[in-house]
Amino acid sequence: MKLLITGGCGFIGSNFIHYILKKYSNYEIVNLDALTYAGNLENLKELENDSRYEFIKGDITDEKLVNKLVKKSDIIVHFAAESHVDRSILSSGDFIKTNINGTHILLEAVKSASRRNGNKRFHHISTDEVFGSLKPKSPAFNENTPYDPRSPYSASKAASDHLVRAYFHTYDLPITISNCSNNYGRYQFPEKLIPLFVTNLIEGKKIPVYGDGGNIRDWLHVEDHCRAIDEIIHNGKIGETYCVGGNSEKTNMEITRAILKIMGKKNREIEYIKDRPGHDRRYAIDFSKIKKELGWEPKISFEDGMRETVEWYKNNKKWWRSIKSGKYQEYYKEQYGSPE
Ligand SMILES: NC(=O)c1ccc[n+]([C@@H]2O[C@H](COP(=O)([O-])OP(=O)(O)OC[C@H]3O[C@@H](n4cnc5c(N)ncnc54)[C@H](O)[C@@H]3O)[C@@H](O)[C@H]2O)c1
Repeated sequence: MKLLITGGCGFIGSNFIHYILKKYSNYEIVNLDALTYAGNLENLKELENDSRYEFIKGDITDEKLVNKLVKKSDIIVHFAAESHVDRSILSSGDFIKTNINGTHILLEAVKSASRRNGNKRFHHISTDEVFGSLKPKSPAFNENTPYDPRSPYSASKAASDHLVRAYFHTYDLPITISNCSNNYGRYQFPEKLIPLFVTNLIEGKKIPVYGDGGNIRDWLHVEDHCRAIDEIIHNGKIGETYCVGGNSEKTNMEITRAILKIMGKKNREIEYIKDRPGHDRRYAIDFSKIKKELGWEPKISFEDGMRETVEWYKNNKKWWRSIKSGKYQEYYKEQYGSPE
């Protein structure tokens, strides 16, 4: 089986490549990644000499390259995206280009390649953020929740989901979509909440909590997410969407306290900062469809997953220090006008 992975040098994509190559000895993977600020070859360093793995530096908006790679693949798993909400608020151009135009170019390539040499399975990775914000007592998002994206990031992901579904209805393309909650685990870029807090505490810095810390997210361990994608690409029903959640609804304060506790730190390390504009209050995922149809449910408890994640960042300082002193500083300077 030949898999084309887009965005495989990012957080979830790189975890997925490790997961697949460990599980299936006869699978081959081509990883197409533009190596934006979020892409990191270090995440896949151990695979450099694995004959089943090939890295291609390139952009998913490069039609010619995408056509060529899609033609040679059986399954395309599409992770590549601009993924950080705060960045989309500062500047959304790249979000439109990669998340919408890039997905469109991939779909077109899948459409024309499928016509000539057999159907290509296309799996699109999306987010629970497309559904908008939940009230405290509202039922969790499921596959029938209407879309209500509220940031440029979630709007661009919503647009890409609609395109993928439209290509199923219009052209019969064998697609599936998954909308997942917040992932955490190894190789996550330290601008996101959990790695930012853990690495700041290791460095003796404060941890910035937005607003009152009451925003609620569901947290999914990246390994559980990889297992869900594996199930969907092999056993999922064509044309279907699956919501993937971690069964771990937590306020940002609960996450903060959990990290402080695991790391033996005190509340005084917290710095409350101005809330993000349009900050969605609550996300929650009802994953009963994927549980019922594919037998998937999260296996890693939040407590175990967090302990293991903190340990990974403690043991891999070289990995995140080079990011924090390089790419992250550029971003911080861009956002706040001075280095951190
Ligand atoms: N991280 C989460 O918690 C989360 C939650 C829900 C959904 N998702 C979705 O999962 C996917 C992966 O997220 P992530 O956290 O791993 O993202 P990430 O930002 O860590 O990685 C994105 C990867 O895509 C690559 N990329 C960006 N633009 C590209 C382009 N034009 N061409 C080729 N490669 C490009 C980057 O270089 C990077 O390697 C995204 O589609 C995201 O929307 C993520």
